[in-house]
This record gives sequence, C-alpha cells and structure tokens, in this order.
Amino acid sequence: MTATLPTSFTSSEQSSNTELQRFFSLIEQLMQEQQLIRLVLSKYQGPALQLRRLEISPVEIKSKICWRFVWQYQTNHQTQNYGAADALALLRTLLPEEFKAAQLQANASETQMTISKKGKVLLNSKKISTKQTADISHNREKQRFVEQSRPFLTALGVTDVQGRIIPAMANKWKQINKFIEILQAAVKDSGLLQATQLHVADFGSGKAYLTFAMHDYFCHTLGLTAKITGVELRQNLVDLCNNTVAKLNLSGIHFEQGDVKHFQTRGINVMVALHACDVATDYAINMGVRTGAEIIMCSPCCHKEIRPQIRLPDVMAPMLSHGIHLGQEAEMVTDSLRALLLEAHGYHTKVFEFISLEHTSKNKMILATKRKNAVVNSEALQQIASIKQFYGIKQQCLEQLLQGAFQK
Ligand SMILES: C[S@@+](CC[C@H](N)C(=O)[O-])C[C@H]1O[C@@H](n2cnc3c(N)ncnc32)[C@H](O)[C@@H]1O
Repeated sequence: MTATLPTSFTSSEQSSNTELQRFFSLIEQLMQEQQLIRLVLSKYQGPALQLRRLEISPVEIKSKICWRFVWQYQTNHQTQNYGAADALALLRTLLPEEFKAAQLQANASETQMTISKKGKVLLNSKKISTKQTADISHNREKQRFVEQSRPFLTALGVTDVQGRIIPAMANKWKQINKFIEILQAAVKDSGLLQATQLHVADFGSGKAYLTFAMHDYFCHTLGLTAKITGVELRQNLVDLCNNTVAKLNLSGIHFEQGDVKHFQTRGINVMVALHACDVATDYAINMGVRTGAEIIMCSPCCHKEIRPQIRLPDVMAPMLSHGIHLGQEAEMVTDSLRALLLEAHGYHTKVFEFISLEHTSKNKMILATKRKNAVVNSEALQQIASIKQFYGIKQQCLEQLLQGAFQK
C-alpha cells in the first residue's frame, strides 16, 4: 500500500521536512563522533534586535565536551554553553523558523543548508580532502569563570533581565571573569577548598562588582560557607551595596564603612584590595600579612609615596626628567618593594598583568600565597635594602607597617 501524506502536507513540504531531519541527524551524529568543528547559522529573520549570526563549536569544560553558542549581534557577542541534548533541542527551535541558512563544518566534510523564501530546504554536502580538527584548546581560553545567568550580575547592571551582557559593561564582565580565574587558581593552590569557614575581606570595595563575584564564587560555585566583608570609605557606596545584598536576599556578604588605615579585623583567609588608592594598598597588605591570610591579592593604584623620594645617578636624570617616566619608575619601584616585602614575610609572590590595557589603565596584580612553614626571608630583606639605597628611598609605608610583624 502506498503511504499517504497528511492532508496538511504537500509533497514539497514533506521533502523539506525530510531534508531538515536529515540535517539534524547529521549534526547529532557528528556531535556524537566528535567530528563537528563548527556550525554557523545565518540569515536571521527572528525577533531579536541586531542578531546577525550564531556560531556553535565544541569546547572542553571540566574534561567534558560542551557546545558553545556565540550569539553574534551587530555590536557585541554573547556566549552560552550547553550539553549535547540541550544544544540539539535549541537548534530545533531555531531552524527553520529563525535562521534561514546554515554552514556545517566537520572533520572531513562540509554541508550547506539553505531555506528558500517558499520554505524549501536544500542540502549540499561535499567531502574535503584535508582533514580538519576542532580547536577546543583555543575555545578553552575564552572560557567564562562566572555564569552569565547569575542574578548578582543583573542587580549590578552587568547583564539585562534576559541575562545578556549590557554592551557598555562588556569590559567589566571581562575583568570579573579574569579576576575569578586568578582567584580560582590561587584558591586551588592554597588548600582553602578544605576550609569549613572562610573569611574574605575586600578593602576599597567601591561598587563591589568583584566583591559580589567572590561571594558568588565561594558560596555558589564552590558551595563553601564564606563570610565576605567589603570595606569602603564612602558611606553612599556602602549603603548601595548593602541594599543590593538585601534585594538579592544573600547571606554571608556585607559592607562596612571604614578606612583601611584604621580597620581592625582578625582571621582573614583572603585579603583583596583592588585599586585602593596610594598607601591604602600598603595598609591592606599589612592587615593581610598580620592576620595570616593564605591569599593576598591587590591591584595597586596612585603611587604617590615613592615618587618625590627617587634620586638616581646623573646618567639617568634625563630619562626621568619626563614626568611619565618618573611615574612609571616610581610605580615599578613601589610594587617591587611590596612584592619583596611579601616574599620576606613568607609569601610566594607574583606580579603580572591583571587585565590588558584596553580595558583599564590600572592593570597590575600582586598575588601572594602564603608558604607553608613560612619564615622570614633574609635574602629578600637584603634586596629591599639595596633597592632603597640605590634609589635613595628613605621610607616606604608597607615596610614601616610590617616592622615587628615577624621576628627573625
Ligand atoms: C577605584 S575604586 C575600586 C573599587 C573596586 N575595588 C574595583 O576594583 O572595582 C577604589 C575604592 O577604594 C575606596 N578607598 C580609597 N581609599 C580607601 C581607604 N583608605 N579605605 C577604604 N576605602 C578606600 C574608594 O572610595 C573607592 O571606592
């Protein structure tokens, strides 16, 4: 008996439907066999404003292959990762209604799918002679360390109510991710993952993008019991941040008005001071060292203390007659002394670029992790003395604050 078509289907609709199912089956098979390199959907005709293309590629996250969807808008890109079943289900909602063309690139073949104005689906496949492989390591570099859908991001104005990054906040989003990436690596090395109670202090917390991100990382991502304290000079920012805590109904995070120079606290495990002005960074580091913090992270700014003290041999005077050079020299000397002082007091210290210059000009990070069985490092103390002598430096705030912190 000849099969009859459903009355609502014409034979051309039937064949288009078959072609589409064939395309989905091919995608599914290539995903399962880990041969899918890239799928690009284009000719968007759906309701999202300014959406142009969608690019899907494999990415390895925590040793599992996921599918990265990069939604390409006219002015920005948004990324989401899915497991295979969710990725396929989402694709079925997008084709053929919203995107009218797709390019499927696999290890040994390429397939082009187009949907005509009358809704006819056309498939065109060809084998390719040079085999290609998916670059999942490259994709790994773009891995996000904070879930874009987290409510704190919307409350702080980084994402909109649909969870999309607000274009003007794209750099802040990158900074938040970079910061959590650095913190995550330091936490793994520190042994803090086993801590039953964790205290994190953020000095000069400002609008607290990174303070909320740390709370989310410790309490949501790691599921630890953590107490996060943001300390900020400006009362209006403290109120703003505490209101956000209440609005999000969060526990384990609060903000206090205070000056890091006089703030007293104990038992800090992670001490953070990001872009705290001038010697506020020294006071924060001193507090971290004295309280025995396992991790100290700071991104210094405004290096005013050392600049007027610098004296150099005559041969270098013309170089430093330019204010910008003198400022750079003062910054390098100040942060080198801070790094050495941390080394001297039992910390393994790294100084590196926090986030590239295109996002913010304050781009340096000093990251210190406490060594086990820390003792005073006399070699570092000797190096500090030599540098101070060379540059003619009489006083450095952190050095003074740390006096007596550790007996040799
Ligand atoms: C440039 S903002 C940085 C905010 C935030 N840490 C970040 O990186 O996004 C520096 C903040 O530190 C605060 N601050 C400066 N000196 C301080 C001090 N001595 N004690 C507490 N907060 C201070 C300022 O009010 C300002 O909000």
